[in-house]
Amino acid sequence: MQVIESIEEMQALAMSFRFEGKLIGLVPTMGCLHEGHISLIKKARESADKVIVSIFVNPTQFAPNEDYGDYPRTLEADLEQCKKYGVDIVFTPSKEAMFPEGFSSYIIEESVGSGLCGISRPNHFKGVTTVCLKLFNLARPDFSYFGQKDAQQCAVLKKVVKDLNVPTEIVICDTIRESDGLALSSRNRYLSKLQREDALYISKALFKAKEMAQNGVSSPDRIIAEITHIMGLKRRIRIIYIQVVDKDSMEPVRKIDPEQTIVSLAVWIDNIRLIDNIAL
Ligand code: PAF
Repeated sequence: MQVIESIEEMQALAMSFRFEGKLIGLVPTMGCLHEGHISLIKKARESADKVIVSIFVNPTQFAPNEDYGDYPRTLEADLEQCKKYGVDIVFTPSKEAMFPEGFSSYIIEESVGSGLCGISRPNHFKGVTTVCLKLFNLARPDFSYFGQKDAQQCAVLKKVVKDLNVPTEIVICDTIRESDGLALSSRNRYLSKLQREDALYISKALFKAKEMAQNGVSSPDRIIAEITHIMGLKRRIRIIYIQVVDKDSMEPVRKIDPEQTIVSLAVWIDNIRLIDNIAL
């Protein structure tokens, strides 16, 4: 396994892989790798000849009041995981290399990213799309792997890749959950025991929503009311949003379509922001 910091070296290596006809799979991450990331790496390993994992805590997707400074950085452990699961290249560029002084070019998707998290985190997706486009240009992936847990991120990136004819396929992999239902996230590390107990009500509410839809409830309002009720039982949970949306457009729907509809939500558990979603 090779660890590359230089963006020039990364780009040259990716070009040489392509020249040799190798299929490249990219797993973009901010490190602090957990089973969710490992599932993306395994998926990449199945289809690509060369698997590249990028580890870069992207400053442009955090607002000034968010946790950029405190975001967990666990490079040594991450490298071990990558080695264990057969990653070929780990790309760990510096902030200065990715966003040098004077950087002023951004990718803005204006529709799919405008609601839900786009409201409470106004510049978040602009940072995500910009860094991902840079990573696509550097690693030249045939396939790029993202987790369904970040449903809106997946939808925004799919739209950007389609609109801008970026030659990579966005592969979306299932959310990985703990055995008690909590969706894996690097931010789960911030949760105390009591906060984690309350956080379980997120997946509990989402599983109930799915059960309701499977039992024929087709009204988004009833689903939202039930989720609000279940999460309202826990005093540490404050709801940022709960919406029943189309998984591609992220627009609210009036009627549930089992193929297309998801419930997406964001909450605060005290001062920790968590997101989750489920297909209905
Ligand atoms: O999902 C993440 O970890 C990040 O948003 C991503 C895609 C690596 C971009 O920084």
